[in-house]
Amino acid sequence: MSEKTLVRNIGQLLTMDPDLCSGGNPSERLLGLVPSGAVVVDDGKVLYSGPESQLPATVTLGAETVDAQGQVVMPGLVECHTHLVFAGNRANEFQMRSLGIGYETIARQGGGILNTVKATREASADELFELGMLRLDRFLEFGVTTVEIKSGYGLNTETELKILEVIRRLGEEHELGVVPTFLGAHVVAPEYQYRREAYVDLVCEEMIPEVARRKLALFCDVFCEEGAFTVAQSRRILETGAAHGLLPKIHCEQLTHSGGCALGAQVKAMSADHLDFCTEADARSLSDSGTVATFLPGATFFIGKKRFPNGRMFKDAGARIALSTDFNPGSSHTQNLWLMGTMGSSYMGLTPAECLRAMTAGAASALGLQKEVGQLKPGMQGDLLILKSSDWQDILYLYGTNPVEQVV
Ligand code: NIG
Ligand code: FE
Repeated sequence: MSEKTLVRNIGQLLTMDPDLCSGGNPSERLLGLVPSGAVVVDDGKVLYSGPESQLPATVTLGAETVDAQGQVVMPGLVECHTHLVFAGNRANEFQMRSLGIGYETIARQGGGILNTVKATREASADELFELGMLRLDRFLEFGVTTVEIKSGYGLNTETELKILEVIRRLGEEHELGVVPTFLGAHVVAPEYQYRREAYVDLVCEEMIPEVARRKLALFCDVFCEEGAFTVAQSRRILETGAAHGLLPKIHCEQLTHSGGCALGAQVKAMSADHLDFCTEADARSLSDSGTVATFLPGATFFIGKKRFPNGRMFKDAGARIALSTDFNPGSSHTQNLWLMGTMGSSYMGLTPAECLRAMTAGAASALGLQKEVGQLKPGMQGDLLILKSSDWQDILYLYGTNPVEQVV
């Protein structure tokens, strides 16, 4: 049965499509702002998005009406980088960091990611699924309607597949859109500590072919960093993934400048993520390769670093940009994507309008979904948010709060 909904009396409609904005200042154009707007959604797709005064009567025929009461309406947020399927927590490491023991030191001593790997291996698929459902509920409360989820806390074939099967089930049973990524190359498994190349063999020769055969992931990601994987190992993993139809993504330049960003550009990665230690040449390379620069300022903030990614440098180089929480139990334990927008504005040289786009249309590009989600224009998915405010400038300014009144 087709269900039609008209959302009317929208004070400011943020379509995220500059072509739908006539006039306005540069920020308003970037947001595709339409004053006194209306949106019609039919069978899950946007049928009309624009001024209420120009709404054709035929389009609204038979629609159920939602009154936005003069508030802001915008597309559902797109969360393009999470490690949402994990067991246990690392509150103890947060305590340790507060005493001056750094994220890298904790990891070198066998804590960090490996702590979560231990707990996740021990958890059953059902336990991981239940935890995952609750976490997806929380994302939805925050206005996220599409979410990418990575494996990477298994580090053996059995557990990586278990996590990816859980991700598939989450996508089937939760109303959020779920996009799966294989991250078997998160760090080297503890069993392979002294045989690091043998772990890369395992990822390339056993895990990737099986993940591809079972169609469990769209993307293949790798953590290119000191203590994780070298540029050469990352290249082999991403090229093997691509040969099996998994599009490349890369975690790089988070804690040091390792050269992963240049690699991401060379393999035409869908996105390169973190980027705290990038150079101008890196920014240009992503712009040239069409790779989306995904910033995760929550990770910088939560592990207590002072150097945030230079968002301005990437924008000025012409790169497409995205913002994400990097939700995970270690480096960024938050599901509040709005907060990332505030950090982007305060620490990364971006304007609030650029950040709001990076959390919607930009993040959709990082998942290859730019024609489906992240904008409110005809033909695209009809996921929209009615906010608590009538002025878009309040959204990132009232920081740390949840601006969402209703998800339609
Ligand atoms: O994106 N950088 C590598 N991986 C995650 C952290 C995972 C963890 O600490 O558990 C990240 O920050
Ligand atoms: Fe991450």
